[in-house]
Amino acid sequence: MELGDHQSIASAVVELKIRGAPAIGILGAYAVALGALKIESTTRDKFLEELRSISYTIASTRPTAKNLFRAIDRMHKVAEAGKDVEQIKAALVNEAVRIHSEEEEATRKLSQLGAELIDDNFTILTHCNTGALATAGYGTALGVIRQAKEQGKNIKVFATETRPLLQGARLTTWELKKTGIPFTLITDSMAGYFMSRGEIDCVIVGADRIAANGDTANKIGTYTLAVLAMEHGIPFYVAAPTTTIDLSLASGDEIPIEQRSQEEITHIQGVSIAPEGTQAANPAFDVTPHYYITAIITEKGIIKEPYVERIKRVFNGK
Ligand code: MRU
Repeated sequence: MELGDHQSIASAVVELKIRGAPAIGILGAYAVALGALKIESTTRDKFLEELRSISYTIASTRPTAKNLFRAIDRMHKVAEAGKDVEQIKAALVNEAVRIHSEEEEATRKLSQLGAELIDDNFTILTHCNTGALATAGYGTALGVIRQAKEQGKNIKVFATETRPLLQGARLTTWELKKTGIPFTLITDSMAGYFMSRGEIDCVIVGADRIAANGDTANKIGTYTLAVLAMEHGIPFYVAAPTTTIDLSLASGDEIPIEQRSQEEITHIQGVSIAPEGTQAANPAFDVTPHYYITAIITEKGIIKEPYVERIKRVFNGK
């Protein structure tokens, strides 16, 4: 897609044409830069006022991924430090490019670190889509899987279809096929069956927001997988760049969960699958409490319990 202004990027995020926490953050930064370039006011105060309204539009798209708000805040700091409008516009473009390349670097690094947790001959279960399509070009959970394969490990993947919007069936399978990693597509409800048969060695998922205590919001269904994994003694890993961490939230109870339209549940790709008038619920994410998470893989290190102290230390690069 070619998107030339901040409104079309905002619409694409709402419609999930751009999705995945890191990708949303990067595109949020580019949207602020594009919006800024189109502002005609030449006085600094008026320019900053218009920029705030542009950012508000972008920030109102999806509430859960921390990456979006972090990127917008960063763009605003740069804008406010600028002396005049032309200089601010140039600085914003540079900052968006910097955010993009830092995110790419972070996901490559965390993938390398995470791959150490994957042994030869592992079968890995993953949920939703966390690869190149959801990030700056490499991936988080799928990046770890890709890196393990690049290291020559013989691995297999179970990809959950990820109801309701089928990111697993449509996107993860496509990415796995391209990278030549053997995979099996399953419905979300089959995970317990394969775990109980001893066919899964570990679970790796991405994250949209990680609270200060390690509680993690990710695609709906992640919590169920974590509980199942613990029941079967299977390690459960979360892979995310530190831009997904939100130290301002003490626990996952405070993470805003996006509620999407009922039609995404009652219809599949435009075709109705439920009687007319059926009421449906559609939370896009759930929160996995930290005690189900074996480790959180970030570009600055792998974090294990006790999360509260360690997350802060890793986040601050110590
Ligand atoms: O609703 P989506 O498709 O944006 O949800 C994506 C996820 O939940 C991913 O697991 C998460 O953003 C991590 S992406 C690397």
